[in-house]
Amino acid sequence: MHYWCPEGDLNPHDLLGSADFKSAVSADFTIRAFSHHIFQFHPATAIIYLCTSPLLPGSLQATVSFVLTGAGISAESGLATFRGSGGLWNGHRVDQVATPEAWEADPALVWRFYSMRRRDAMAAEPNAAHRALAAIEHSLADNFYLFTQNVDDLHERGGSIRVHHMHGSLFHSRCVACDLPFPDQGFYEDADSLPRCALCGSPVRPHIVWFGEITLDMDEIYRQLDRATVLLVVGTSGSVYPAAGLVNIANRRGIRTLYVGPEEPLNASAFDEIFLGPATEVLPKVV
Ligand code: APR
Repeated sequence: MHYWCPEGDLNPHDLLGSADFKSAVSADFTIRAFSHHIFQFHPATAIIYLCTSPLLPGSLQATVSFVLTGAGISAESGLATFRGSGGLWNGHRVDQVATPEAWEADPALVWRFYSMRRRDAMAAEPNAAHRALAAIEHSLADNFYLFTQNVDDLHERGGSIRVHHMHGSLFHSRCVACDLPFPDQGFYEDADSLPRCALCGSPVRPHIVWFGEITLDMDEIYRQLDRATVLLVVGTSGSVYPAAGLVNIANRRGIRTLYVGPEEPLNASAFDEIFLGPATEVLPKVV
C-alpha cells in the first residue's frame, strides 16, 4: 500500500505555500483532490501526502474495470451500513432476521424487517458515488463490471445498467419451492397475510442471500475478474466472504487493486492503493 510519492512534476512542499492548496486541504477530510492529484492529510504527523499513481480524472477509462461495492456506497443516501451500527441492523440482530434459521423460526419478523428495508430503500435517492460509477460504465460499456453486495436498487436508479447483485435484491422475492425470483415491491407487515406462491401455495421469501447461504453469480464474477486490469472496491468492511477474498485473487493475477472508503477495511493490507474518504467525495474525482 502506498500513500506517498515525492517524484513527479508536482512538489507537495511547493504546494504548501499556495493559498488555494491550503483551502483545498483540511483536517476534517482525510483526502482532497487538487490540481488533478489526490492528497491525503495525516492528522497525527500533519504531513500532506501526494498519493502515488493518482487516480486522475478519467484514469479508469483506459481499463477493464471490475468494481465491487458494499453498504458504504449507499451510506450517504441514508441507508444504514451493518457494521457501522453497533451490531444491530436497523434495530435487529442479524441472526434474528438474516439467516435461514431466522426464517424457520419467525417468517413474520423476517418479512417485517425486509418490508422496512424496502421502505427505506424506496425513500432513498442515489448519490454522487452511484452516479460516478454509472458514468464510468457509460464510457467503458462491456469493459466495466459492477458487482455489489448491496440489495438496494440505488446503482440502477443512479444510471448503472450492468449491475450484478451478489447478495440478492430487496425488490425481488421467490417461492421457497419453485425457487424462481420475481419482482416484488410489496410490504408484508401483518403476520396473518404473509405472501404465498400463486402457482403452488408455498411460502414466498425475500430474494436475499442470508448469512450461511451461497453467494449468487460467483462463476460469472471469477470469469470477469480474469479479464480485469483494475479492481476498484468501494465502501465494504472486507469482512464477508467470498467478496472480501476477491482482492487476493486479483493480486495473484497482477491486477491493480484500489479501495475507496472513509476507513481502512479489514483486508486493507491486500490493496495496492487506499483512498480514504467518503465515496461521494472521492469517486466523482476519478471518473
Ligand atoms: N463512503 C464509502 N464507504 C463508507 C462510507 C462512505 N460514505 N460510510 C461508511 N463506509 C464504509 C465503512 O467504512 C465500512 O467499511 O462502508 C463499510 C460498511 O461495512 P459493512 O456494514 O460491513 O457493509 P458490507 O461490507 O457491504 O457488508 C457485507 O454483510 O451486512 C451483510 O449481507 C450484508 O452485503 C452485506 C455484507
